[in-house]
Amino acid sequence: MAKALLEGKKGIIFGALDEKSLAWKTAMRAHEEGAQIVLTNAPVAMRLGKINELAEICGAEVIPADATNVEDIENLFTKAMEIVGGKVDFVLHSIGMSPNVRKDFPYTDLNHDFFLKTLDISALSFHKILQTAYKQDAISEWGSVVALSYIAAQRTMPGYKDMADAKAMLESIARSFGYYYGKEKKVRVNTISQSPTLTTAGAGIKGFNSFYHYANDIAPLGNASADSCADYIVMLFSDMCKMVTMQNLYHDGGFSYALSSEEALAHYGD
Ligand SMILES: NC(=O)c1ccc[n+]([C@@H]2O[C@H](COP(=O)([O-])OP(=O)(O)OC[C@H]3O[C@@H](n4cnc5c(N)ncnc54)[C@H](O)[C@@H]3O)[C@@H](O)[C@H]2O)c1
Repeated sequence: MAKALLEGKKGIIFGALDEKSLAWKTAMRAHEEGAQIVLTNAPVAMRLGKINELAEICGAEVIPADATNVEDIENLFTKAMEIVGGKVDFVLHSIGMSPNVRKDFPYTDLNHDFFLKTLDISALSFHKILQTAYKQDAISEWGSVVALSYIAAQRTMPGYKDMADAKAMLESIARSFGYYYGKEKKVRVNTISQSPTLTTAGAGIKGFNSFYHYANDIAPLGNASADSCADYIVMLFSDMCKMVTMQNLYHDGGFSYALSSEEALAHYGD
């Protein structure tokens, strides 16, 4: 029988809130492929979400950590290494939140304290996680770190507001840290730019539903589902992608390279 893709591998998954979460789907797929996982989320999400249900299904332990708090992240890596009995092989950053998006402030009239919070939660947290892992030497050689991004990092999209700037920073951190982590420890760092997906974070963006259908009309393969995103992440965690690092990888059914489609143009007549 073929070996499971993540057999013998251990990892930390940030950001599973409920069964719609991209992190939830990834935890399930990683578990199916033989990985041992440790789950984490912000303390507030522990109360509001369903992470304990997921932990039971995956036989995983849950360690709360606010991804903006370095002490929490240090504690998380220390405890995770105790649980799995050594270094981890993969980490998923699946974290995003903008108070400006939540409160629907226009991009031209953002609250700048909120803007800093958006950047801290959605981008700087990735640097904090990578820096902590690097200092603690918590990721094994040829390990793989993935964060989830969105194409509004490259192309302007009304409604995404300061999250667009946060995603641009997130992708840049993957490139910058990926250089040092690759050189020093042979650890890969990539971002995946995912299609619009109906999750709690996705649904919080104004105009999400119409944009979801628009993207689905333009992408030759249609929007990439959360399940297929989980497959792609698991492949990046596996040994099948050992030489891929510092990349922003589009997982969007071709949307990023399609200018239009017959379906989208049909709305305007001939
Ligand atoms: N849903 C989409 O359309 C879409 C598309 C592309 C990229 N993404 C990205 O995918 C990632 C996961 O989002 P999702 O769509 O699965 O939604 P989600 O709401 O299920 O996940 C977002 C997670 O971020 C966590 N989080 C927020 N603040 C945190 C903090 N301070 N510390 C730790 N965790 C914190 C939340 O608790 C939640 O679990 C995000 O980075 C999001 O921007 C989503």
